[in-house]
Amino acid sequence: MGIHQILKKRFSPNHFLNKPIDQNHLDIIFEAGRWSPSCFNEQPWRFLYAHQHQTEIFNNIVSCLAEKNQEWAKYAPLLMISIAKKNFSYNNKPNKWARYDTGQSVAHMTIHAMEFNIYTHQMGGFSSEKVIEIFNISEHYEPVSVIAMGYLDDNLYEKELSLKERSRKDKEEIFMNGIFNIND
Ligand SMILES: Cc1cc2nc3c(=O)[nH]c(=O)nc-3n(C[C@H](O)[C@H](O)[C@H](O)COP(=O)(O)O)c2cc1C
Repeated sequence: MGIHQILKKRFSPNHFLNKPIDQNHLDIIFEAGRWSPSCFNEQPWRFLYAHQHQTEIFNNIVSCLAEKNQEWAKYAPLLMISIAKKNFSYNNKPNKWARYDTGQSVAHMTIHAMEFNIYTHQMGGFSSEKVIEIFNISEHYEPVSVIAMGYLDDNLYEKELSLKERSRKDKEEIFMNGIFNIND
């Protein structure tokens, strides 16, 4: 028994098929993000996205990325900025879990997208200040990540994957049954 096929296949590619994301697929991916759990059911996540053919907005998102990310992400069919609402709506107190929940919503979308052979590549390498300025984001919200999305050519799967060095920590380093015995 291994992990689910969808989880096994997923990785963060740097090349996508030159094909716009199907609106039906996108709607379902968004629906997956919408149904993610969140603290107090606040649903603090917001997403600002543009297809590549929406040239001006798309290029504005690209311009917020770190140079290294721009090099490949400018060819992605869709770019999306995840944004977290900082305070709870019900009491206006800081929501310590806003970024956590926003990431979880992205994870839901990332995994569901695999069903359509749509791969995502998340990025922390971007200028939050630039996003705030260009897109006029209010002080109540903070940009969290940028996500590139696109289809992967089945024929390119192995090639693209081979360009990546993918590794993970050992299970023993992460999961501890009852005793927290790591002090690094
Ligand atoms: C929050 C976050 C920020 C990341 N930032 C970047 C980035 O700026 N540039 C990049 O090329 N990859 C970025 N990545 C991708 C990771 O490097 C990648 O997920 C990790 O190496 C594991 O590889 P995998 O997704 O192929 O399994 C980011 C991933 C996450 C979740």
